[in-house]
Amino acid sequence: MTEKSEYRDDYPDKTLYIPGPTEVREDVIEAMCEPMFGHRMDRMTDLYTTIVEDTKEFLGTDNDVIVLTGSGTEFMESSILNLVDENVLVTTCGSFSERQANVAERLGKTVDTLEYEWGQAVKPEDVRNYLEESDTDYDVVTCVKNESSTGVRNPVEEIGDVVAEYPDTYFVVDAVSSLGGDYIDIDEHGIDVIFTSVQKAFAMPPGLGVCVVSDDAYERELEKESASWYGGFQRTLDYYDRKGQTHSTPAIPIMLAYRKQMKHMLSEGHDARDQRHREMAEYTREWAREHFAMFPEEGYESQTVSCIENTQEIDVAATIDAVSEEYDMVFSNGYGSALGEKTFRIGHMGEHDLESIKELTDAIEDVADL
Ligand SMILES: Cc1ncc(COP(=O)(O)O)c(C=O)c1O
Repeated sequence: MTEKSEYRDDYPDKTLYIPGPTEVREDVIEAMCEPMFGHRMDRMTDLYTTIVEDTKEFLGTDNDVIVLTGSGTEFMESSILNLVDENVLVTTCGSFSERQANVAERLGKTVDTLEYEWGQAVKPEDVRNYLEESDTDYDVVTCVKNESSTGVRNPVEEIGDVVAEYPDTYFVVDAVSSLGGDYIDIDEHGIDVIFTSVQKAFAMPPGLGVCVVSDDAYERELEKESASWYGGFQRTLDYYDRKGQTHSTPAIPIMLAYRKQMKHMLSEGHDARDQRHREMAEYTREWAREHFAMFPEEGYESQTVSCIENTQEIDVAATIDAVSEEYDMVFSNGYGSALGEKTFRIGHMGEHDLESIKELTDAIEDVADL
């Protein structure tokens, strides 16, 4: 039984290098501290239409954008409810893609999996072979863009091109932990649904999920007899068209923060943001290879989360504690019991830059005596 552990007022600030939540700018935090207003007021229409249209501009997409209170997992569930009658093919290569399979199973769908060992990437040619050889007509194929548990960046663009050869099969991409830090041309690769959570590379406080929906996916939901109410594409997008608001009461303070941060993201621009993340990832990989090794299959390393193989057998938990204690910086152990001590992870996303990542790697070198 979990016992109450009273929240205090005196926690020291820690700089976050975990794979989300990540660092949030001061003015973005402050943006949340406004007197409350109603979610049916004109002011809410101004706020919601601003964040939706700014997001489309930042992502460079003509598809529709939904911003909903909740987290990315909401769209793992609703994209299955909205698009799948019976059969879904889930590509799995780590914990979050396995979660997607589990979500679909719990919704009563028939789930086939194309499985890879943790650390390996999903290959477009395997997806092609699987679809060609299978007798099943899949309503949906899913793939995670950035498997945060293993630090693998899957080639979802090429996989999307393969799935696009099957016009009745929709392609759903989990881009939590990468969208906003690793540019993707959403409209060019047959991606029907792509979603993220704002506490990752968008560098916002948690509490909202963002989903980009193609016209085809919207139409597909209309043909179905059942769909998600809360995360229904039709319900959320029609409400936006008619009223410029959300169908139910949103987390208004977080949307205020979103508005502020999306302006920062627009002024940086997605190319510069992509470049900054690439530099951080390249530096972290180089550092990791000098002292340890990278866990993901070579050539498929993430641009936002580095998963480093603990070849020196340092005590990962103790190193994390010591870096936190001495430097007020927090990075992450490996995912779950299998990878917990075998790997560790550095989130280089959102507001971080080369300098701040170097501060962390210096601290790890010092504490682990590398
Ligand atoms: C790749 C991936 N998918 C899904 C999720 C779930 O996101 P959330 O906790 O915001 O629902 C995470 C969270 O870390 C993730 O990294």
